[in-house]
Parts: sequence; C-alpha cells; structure tokens
Amino acid sequence: MANTHQVTIITQDDESVTFECRSDEDVISAAVRQDIYLMSSCREGGCATCKGLCTEGDYVLGKVSSQALPYEEEEAGEVLLCRCYPSTDIEVEVPYVYERISFSPEGLSFEAEVVGVSQVSSNVMRLLLNRTGDDKQIKFESGQFFDLEIPNTTTTRSYSPANTANKKGELEFLIRVVEGGKFSTYLKNEAHVGQKINVKGASGIFGLKENGFTPRYFVAGGTGLAPILSMVRHMHQWDEPQKCIIYFGVNTEEEIFFLDELEKLASEMKTLELRNCVWKCSDEWRYEKGSVVDVLRRDLTETGAKPDIYLCGPPGMVDATFNVCETLGIPKERVYLEKFLPSGS
Ligand SMILES: Cc1cc2nc3c(=O)[nH]c(=O)nc-3n(C[C@H](O)[C@H](O)[C@H](O)COP(=O)(O)OP(=O)(O)OC[C@H]3O[C@@H](n4cnc5c(N)ncnc54)[C@H](O)[C@@H]3O)c2cc1C
Ligand code: FES
Repeated sequence: MANTHQVTIITQDDESVTFECRSDEDVISAAVRQDIYLMSSCREGGCATCKGLCTEGDYVLGKVSSQALPYEEEEAGEVLLCRCYPSTDIEVEVPYVYERISFSPEGLSFEAEVVGVSQVSSNVMRLLLNRTGDDKQIKFESGQFFDLEIPNTTTTRSYSPANTANKKGELEFLIRVVEGGKFSTYLKNEAHVGQKINVKGASGIFGLKENGFTPRYFVAGGTGLAPILSMVRHMHQWDEPQKCIIYFGVNTEEEIFFLDELEKLASEMKTLELRNCVWKCSDEWRYEKGSVVDVLRRDLTETGAKPDIYLCGPPGMVDATFNVCETLGIPKERVYLEKFLPSGS
C-alpha cells in the first residue's frame, strides 16, 4: 500500500505551501488533487517547467528527458516535480515567487479567438489571438509561455508570446512549422480567423532579471526570438536603460523573419543593437554571416564584455551558446535560458 508523505514547496520569496503526496503519485498531480497549481506544463518530464531543488528527504525520480534534467543537475538534487515520487517527507525549493502558485484551475485557463494567421518566413507562422469575454487582461511576465490546445482535441503545445502583457486581450505567437508536427499541421491546414482556442498559462520562469546597469545580450535561434522580442519590447515600454544586443540566427535567408519589426525597434531604442545572423547565406546578405554562437563568441572575445546573457531556441543552439559563455568566463548564474524542447522529448 502507498504511504503518504508531506511535501513542502519553498518559493523564492521564502513563502511555503505544504500538502500530502502518496508515494505512488507525482508531486504535481498530488498538488492539483488538493487545488494547488504549481508551475508545470508537459507533465511528462520533458519541458523543465516544474524543476526544483530537493533540500530535504528522499524520492524516486521517474523517466525524464536528459535535456530537461541533465545528469549533473539530477546528481545535485534537482528534480522535475511531475516525475518526483516522495519516499519520505520532502522539501523542495522552486525558482519562482509564491504569487505564481495558483489555487484554482480557473485562474489559469481562458478562451481566445484566432484573429490572424500568416506565414512570415519559409518555416515560421504568426498566430494572433484575442481573449474572448469581458475580462480582456492578459497577464504574464515577458519570457513566460502559454499552452495552446488544438481545437477539438486535448493536445496542447507551449508557445511564448512575442508581445507584452496587455489589457486588450492580445497574444502574438511566432511558431516554427515542424514537418508532421501536430500543432504545426493544425496551424498550416486548419487554423482560421474566428476559431476559438483554449489557452492555459502563463507558465515558466524565463524572463528579465534585475542586475543594475549590466548590459543584456539576447541570443535567439529561430522562433526563440518570440520571448526575447517580448522582453526587449518590455524594456522599450518601460524605458529600461541597459544596453542590449539581439543576436538572431537562422539557417538560410528564406527562414529570416521580422527584420522590419527588429529594425523599427532598434530605431526607436538608442540602447539596442542588432546582429541578424544567417548561417548559409548568399553574398548579398547584408548582415552577419555565420551562426549566432560564432558571432557572439567574436563579440565577447573582441570586447571582453561580461553582460547578462539570455538564450532561447532549439536545445543544440542553447547548449552551444551556454558553453561559449562558460569558456569566456561569464558566470553561469548570469546566463538565463529557455530551451524549446519538443513535446514528449
Ligand atoms: C517552454 C516552451 C516554449 C516554446 N515556445 C515556442 C515558440 O514560441 N515558438 C515555437 O515555434 N516553438 C515553441 N516551443 C516548441 C513547441 O512547444 C512545439 O514543441 C513545437 O511547435 C512542435 O510542436 P508540433 O505539435 O508541431 O510537433 P510535435 O507533434 O510535437 O512533434 C512532431 C515531430 O517533430 C519533432 N519536433 C518537434 N519540435 C521540433 C523542433 N523544434 N525541431 C525539430 N524537431 C522537432 C518531434 O520530436 C516529433 O518527432 C516551445 C517549447 C517549450 C517547451
Ligand atoms: S511539467 Fe514537468 S517536465 Fe514538463
């Protein structure tokens, strides 16, 4: 028979919540059963949204993606709570504040209407949603993501808005179309203006960190640009003074998108520089040639700068950039990242 243990979650602002968890259920499910909604998304060990550090007690960890929880982190006591089965009472520190915990499911979900779908490059589409109903407020921190449900299914995928929190109900997503992918196929073939779509969120801990006037370098692979654009747009709206550079990389010129939006932003923000990088480009390409990893390495080496670094995109690009930062002496606590892990990875 399963034993019952106490789980205490300690948030970044030193608040805590305690609930019961059976040894045969994972911590996220046990919390939901008791109307406590901790940060989570895929609930299958693949996205790292539910990551925490276990500081007391023992547990069994189910199957997790090594991208979401690398071996060194597992060894250091980090856990994915959706795959964590307590075998004693446990205490877990989570990297977000108490306010991010919800105590009712309604607080997390809402309906939105598709108000725009368009192709913006050879492999990226832009999806515009507007929240339905009287309460139009869209609350999130730039860098967070929402889970979108494919209409008439229970399949959800995570996407990070490129716009900022607003009272008009607007959400703007930039979505890479993956051959044969479920959401990608829906977007390409079925999504149309007027369609209703269920949205859950916001989730995630990727976002701007306060570190005085330290410059911020943002590195985006493909649609990894979305949360980065949201953060830089937020800086623009609030006149934040830090110097920033966006390194935006794609493989070919056909894949580039949002150049006009980026150039407009840079013309309005004296603090912003752009490095638009294409890996396999023609001689006519007027910006950077090569990968974002190489261009960032060049800049850091030439200037000796030690900025805060924000990374987002495919796991391979994020890992390669992280290694460059480490080699060039940027402390890993000042490298903030989000990997666009495929669902169920
Ligand atoms: C926190 C978070 C935020 C995200 N935000 C965004 C975003 O803003 N924009 C965006 O475009 N994506 C984003 N993603 C990725 C997104 O959630 C989906 O995984 C992706 O769109 C594929 O979904 P799909 O249903 O089309 O494909 P699926 O049906 O999930 O996958 C079909 C096949 O394609 C493979 N596959 C899936 N994704 C990729 C990939 N990126 N590269 C190569 N192969 C892949 C799968 O392994 C599978 O074999 C985010 C992911 C996370 C975890
Ligand atoms: S919610 Fe736990 S890894 Fe995705």
